[in-house]
Amino acid sequence: MMFMKCHRSKLSVWAALCVLVLCWLYIFPVYRLPSDKDIVEEVLGQGKVWTKNQTGIDMYRKLITECCEPREMFALTKENSPIGKVLWYDGELYHSRTVNNDTYPLFVKETPLKLPLKRCAVVGNGGVLKNSGCGRDIDQADFVFRCNLPPLTKEYTADVGTKTHLVTANPSIIEKRYQNLLWSRRTFVESMKAYGSSYVYMSAFSMKPGTEPSLRAYYTLSDAFSNQTVLFANPDFLKSVGKFWKRRGVHAKRLSTGLFLVSLALGLCDEVMVYGFWPFAEDLNQQPVSHHYYDNILPYSGFHAMPEEFLQLWNLHKTGTLRLHIGQCAEID
Ligand SMILES: *[C@@H]1O[C@H](CO)[C@@H](O)[C@H](O)[C@H]1NC(C)=O
Ligand SMILES: *[C@@H]1O[C@H](CO)[C@@H](O)[C@H](O)[C@H]1NC(C)=O
Ligand SMILES: *[C@@H]1O[C@H](CO)[C@@H](O)[C@H](O)[C@H]1NC(C)=O
Repeated sequence: MMFMKCHRSKLSVWAALCVLVLCWLYIFPVYRLPSDKDIVEEVLGQGKVWTKNQTGIDMYRKLITECCEPREMFALTKENSPIGKVLWYDGELYHSRTVNNDTYPLFVKETPLKLPLKRCAVVGNGGVLKNSGCGRDIDQADFVFRCNLPPLTKEYTADVGTKTHLVTANPSIIEKRYQNLLWSRRTFVESMKAYGSSYVYMSAFSMKPGTEPSLRAYYTLSDAFSNQTVLFANPDFLKSVGKFWKRRGVHAKRLSTGLFLVSLALGLCDEVMVYGFWPFAEDLNQQPVSHHYYDNILPYSGFHAMPEEFLQLWNLHKTGTLRLHIGQCAEID
């Protein structure tokens, strides 16, 4: 009885201590995100002033090269993933797939990009691109990254351009937009023509349900003699880039494709320009911004920590490491 009592009072002391520590952290957090309004005001205050900072560019290339080896590791290749190599899914707690005679032949021989890339544009799909007139700017880049198979039809050309060198394809889009490629595959093949002879970058080995649709996308394009090259994202690389940003205060469960591509570009390109990233409900003229440039859905928060990620991009912009385009492009030049 005596022992029980003692034990219980010890427990409550610990509980009280925990509560105190939590209160302390709440009042004086190690890291607290500025409010959306503060960020927007700062962006407005900064205006269009921007100066390139070669020191910052070199530093980030070095940091990302050291943590994540983007050149050698961003895609699965026959070099970095020989038969027998175990691929640990980065989006699952405990799931792996061993490279075997079925999957090995689907990998490119080695990193196919001709490096270093010079001026790169990373194009997000944010509604802030609507009526931006950024299309010409984007098309002037030497290498254009795009996210999640965005529409590039005529009505968007003036705002988003036409060129693509690498486009990511989320397996969930294959499922939603193309019936998982279990029925007719023609719509998929036809719609992929918008991306010319680009690389199609798929995270086939991140989440278990994404593997089969990604492999089907590979076979569909290959059977149609498409000019595109499918690159499978290397889960080790996705994981190391995620850790890189976690150390810098991005707490999302998973990094968005956008910040992920920006990291890749910082590692591979001489200069990085970023378009279509703006996670806030209103633009700089206080007009509502839709979630994507091609829809009218207003933004929601959830899976990705968008304002947190934006803050990272904004800091890189302020230090001249990359250039973030938020307003209209025609006015800048
Ligand atoms: C250039 O970038 C470095 C590294 O991020 C930073 O320490 C420095 O303050 C930057 N210089 C300017 C003028 O912003
Ligand atoms: C894979 O295929 C090659 C040639 O097709 C064959 O020589 C080899 O034994 C196979 N390996 C396994 C593990 O099945
Ligand atoms: C591949 O590229 C060639 C030359 O640019 C073009 O004529 C052909 O139509 C393309 N094929 C497909 C399937 O897009």
